[in-house]
Amino acid sequence: MTSMNRRWLLAQRPQGMVKDSDFTLDTGPMPVPGEGEFLVRLTHFSFDPTQRGWLGGDTYLPAVKIGDPVRAGGIGVVVESHHEGFKPGQLVQGTFGWQEHVVSNGYTETGPVTILHPGITPEQALGVFGITGLTAYFGLTDLGQPKPGDTVLVSGAAGATGSVVVQIAKAMGCTVIGIAGGPDKCGWVKGTAGADACIDYRAGNVARAIRELAPKGVHVVFENVGGEILDAALANLAMRARIVLCGGISSYNDTGESRSHGLQNYMNITVMRARMEGFIVLDYAKRFGEGVQALAALIAQGKLKTAEDIAEGFENCPATLRRLFEGKNLGKQLLKV
Ligand SMILES: NC(=O)c1ccc[n+]([C@@H]2O[C@H](COP(=O)([O-])OP(=O)(O)OC[C@H]3O[C@@H](n4cnc5c(N)ncnc54)[C@H](OP(=O)(O)O)[C@@H]3O)[C@@H](O)[C@H]2O)c1
Repeated sequence: MTSMNRRWLLAQRPQGMVKDSDFTLDTGPMPVPGEGEFLVRLTHFSFDPTQRGWLGGDTYLPAVKIGDPVRAGGIGVVVESHHEGFKPGQLVQGTFGWQEHVVSNGYTETGPVTILHPGITPEQALGVFGITGLTAYFGLTDLGQPKPGDTVLVSGAAGATGSVVVQIAKAMGCTVIGIAGGPDKCGWVKGTAGADACIDYRAGNVARAIRELAPKGVHVVFENVGGEILDAALANLAMRARIVLCGGISSYNDTGESRSHGLQNYMNITVMRARMEGFIVLDYAKRFGEGVQALAALIAQGKLKTAEDIAEGFENCPATLRRLFEGKNLGKQLLKV
């Protein structure tokens, strides 16, 4: 084993899109686990739009400090252990950050380190059974509460969260309209994820396209993008619609100079007696087991197909984070070391 360890540290708070110069690739000595600790060699990292928020300032978690490793979920293998709960060779999952090796006492800042179930791959653990799949499941079922026959509109439909929402909604007997960037992604949302229709938001007027596909309005909006796309959805609500405000990636790179679109159609929430509600998936931590079981059942029934987009090489962490904001990923963005 190498005696050195590399870590990506936050050098400065990004302005707009993250740049390589916002980070420093630090090489230092290998950390040594003490009593009650174990050493993990990271093998897979999860890439999530919320990381951009963590780098910019305090959100639902404290901001990543300048000079600290970039916060990120990951999976690794235990290589040395002085902790009775963890053995060398086990695969473990936690918010370990962008570092090749890390010493852990069994907890990270977002919760306990967990041992991977032998039947679950690292890709599944970080994707469909990880934060994004669980966000799709709890956001749609708990907040969206779709009924068979409802029309469900999903933005970011070719992404990790959106693609799972599309398929759960189809399995629940809904008509599903996806929104995604470009004809290839839209083809995948219809052909593989099984949406009834998909609107390419880059091709034209989204509000008009929704109106043509759902002239009586949409019952559930699962919103991942915000801004103009949310506004287009708000213009097309059915009576008592539920808008699940999962994310608003179109504004995550906003700076003081560039502010995102201000909503024009929010009064339609009043007119249509609709409900718009936000949530953070970590609030459902006690119910994650239930979510994993429901998602596993859909996979076993052939109703849920997963897609992972896997980059390689620890040195490519910053570029891989950018892919989410450039729309380059299809499905869950991961990086394998
Ligand atoms: N509330 C929670 O607890 C929670 C948990 C997890 C995720 N989320 C949110 O869920 C959303 C999706 O996250 P994810 O991890 O599944 O990422 P993802 O959808 O796999 O990847 C991000 C996608 O967003 C789209 N996008 C990027 N910039 C855009 C822009 N300016 N306008 C429109 N679309 C843009 C791109 O798709 P196109 O090519 O189609 O544009 C890109 O592929 C994010 O908003 C995230 O913050 C919330």
